[in-house]
Amino acid sequence: MFPAFLQMRGVERMFATDGFMDDFQNRLLASADRISGALDALLAQQPREGEISRPERLMAAMRHGALNGGKRLRPFLVLESAALFGVEEADAMAAALALECVHCYSLIHDDLPAMDDDDLRRGQPTVHKAFDEATAILAGDGLLTLAFELLGSAACHRDAGVRSELVVELAKAAGLGGMVGGQMLDLQAAEDAPDEAAIRMLQAMKTGALLRFACEAGAILGSASPSDRATLRAFGEKIGQAFQLADDVLDVVSSDEAMGKRVGKDEAMGKGTLVAILGLEQARQRADALVEEAEALLSGFGDRADVLKSCARYIVSRQQ
Ligand code: IPE
Ligand code: IPE
Ligand code: MG
Ligand code: MG
Ligand code: MG
Repeated sequence: MFPAFLQMRGVERMFATDGFMDDFQNRLLASADRISGALDALLAQQPREGEISRPERLMAAMRHGALNGGKRLRPFLVLESAALFGVEEADAMAAALALECVHCYSLIHDDLPAMDDDDLRRGQPTVHKAFDEATAILAGDGLLTLAFELLGSAACHRDAGVRSELVVELAKAAGLGGMVGGQMLDLQAAEDAPDEAAIRMLQAMKTGALLRFACEAGAILGSASPSDRATLRAFGEKIGQAFQLADDVLDVVSSDEAMGKRVGKDEAMGKGTLVAILGLEQARQRADALVEEAEALLSGFGDRADVLKSCARYIVSRQQ
């Protein structure tokens, strides 16, 4: 029932002790399977219409970076937030895949020697270790551009206005004022010793922005009212903060094996994290409080938002 990579990384153990998460567990794992299957098809060796060729080594590196497991949380959030507005999974899949492509690209580049210099990701060698640095840079570039092809293509949504909004929002979330900008601040934080407010901003950008997009994308796909869209965006911001707090806590308390990536590196590299400033206990409390705030934001949707609420809880209770 549990894919090998998740068993290896402790998900089974976590869910076994958390009975209330059973439905959520099944949903996330089944969705991860479907997302991975769709990514597999997208990254087939055969060129797609309009492509000249797909260089084999680049394809292999992109597949290594995108098909190596992963919780698939961001595409899950796209699909579930879209479902809240009556959008069928098939009609939200292109946007979900686009976001996962951007996420996988961000991880490939994050692991490069010039960035976090990591050799392990999702329980496997990082892309630059399995291939080489230049290939890893290009694999990231290939995934990033593929994401925008997906969003701009007719299969993403019949309404070109909706597609264009998705393109603009993902570009903002991924770029200068979002993930890429946050990665810059993250690198500088090793020298600057940022205060709490600066770390919060850094985290909202490097991690929060893509999670915010994940939730808002569903509202965009479902042509939700401006107020519902703002609610989903705010929910995404809250869980984004909680997600990076949990990642920073896990970097201290978890193991390489459980996480499938090296832990203990934030302190070693002098990274600006809230755990370093607040300590573990307060960081955990902050993460729990953020989840409660996130859940409260969705109260107007009643039990239709239960999956999204469970996802918020999963984000801080996860063990990997
Ligand atoms: C890791 O993200 C990178 C951060 C933003 C902290 P995930 O923990 O979602 O990584 P995967 O996709 O499951 O491997
Ligand atoms: C990564 O943050 C955020 C992005 C990839 C944009 P981290 O550097 O903490 O992520 P991990 O711990 O390597 O997954
Ligand atoms: Mg990093
Ligand atoms: Mg890193
Ligand atoms: Mg980390």
